[in-house]
Amino acid sequence: MGKIIAIANQKGGVGKTTTAINLSAAIAILDKKVLLVDADPQANATSGLGIDEEEVEISLYDCLINPDLVHKAVLPSIVPNLDILPSSIDLVGAEIELVSRKKREYALKKVLKRIKDDYDYIMIDCLPSLGLITINALTASHSVIIPIQCEVYSLTGLSKLKDTIMGVKNQFNTSLTIEGILLTMFDKRLRMANMVASEIHDMVSDHVFETIIQRNSKVGESPSVGKPVIMYDATSTGAVNFLHLASEFLKYNNDPSEVSY
Ligand SMILES: Nc1ncnc2c1ncn2[C@@H]1O[C@H](COP(=O)(O)OP(=O)(O)O)[C@@H](O)[C@H]1O
Ligand SMILES: [Mg+2]
Repeated sequence: MGKIIAIANQKGGVGKTTTAINLSAAIAILDKKVLLVDADPQANATSGLGIDEEEVEISLYDCLINPDLVHKAVLPSIVPNLDILPSSIDLVGAEIELVSRKKREYALKKVLKRIKDDYDYIMIDCLPSLGLITINALTASHSVIIPIQCEVYSLTGLSKLKDTIMGVKNQFNTSLTIEGILLTMFDKRLRMANMVASEIHDMVSDHVFETIIQRNSKVGESPSVGKPVIMYDATSTGAVNFLHLASEFLKYNNDPSEVSY
């Protein structure tokens, strides 16, 4: 049975999509079967894995309307062991259309139920909001990864996100946990980044991943060629960071990889 992990933070530009693409790819390379669900109408995870939005015939939006379409919607990616459930701009409409539905918080859970046994891990790339799609992602998930950018004010908004997570846990998904806080875009030359990185452990009571994702130009460039950083430049700092994160993640889940890198 696949473990489902939402990658969420209502702030934009904190590294959610980058984490979703590159952690999913690294876990897949460590020989686990992974599905990446693009739950952002911007479809950055879809395009970042080399899938042109124009080519997407059935998207997550269609699956939310008719969950039986999910098997047809899932596409293979260029990474072995990694599939994607693509997004499209139509997903904007889902927020509105779901509102009038009964059990509207469970729509994504219903979709993923049909395929979760096909995967070891399912990662959901959330959009930068705490609206109904994010609530659906949290309701469908076993846990949440919260990427936080190493910069001033990075912790503002965290308590609101945690309130939302607690709200979903209380109302729709009692077993939801925080998988971990992930420090992203760390620039060791900046004093502020060093301060945030060293203080975060004191400031939050949640699990914080030991691996820190550094700011790395290859990570920034790789979506424009439709590849995860590991397939763009396997020796880059970014690729190494995400492989470390993947193996830390698997160890934390008592599911170590037999593949060495
Ligand atoms: N570690 C990194 N090094 C360099 N650029 C990064 C890194 N992480 C993210 N970026 C860039 O920062 C921008 C925002 O990241 P993204 O993952 O799209 O954030 P979110 O999904 O939270 O909005 C993107 O242009 C992305 O390529
Ligand atoms: Mg994003």
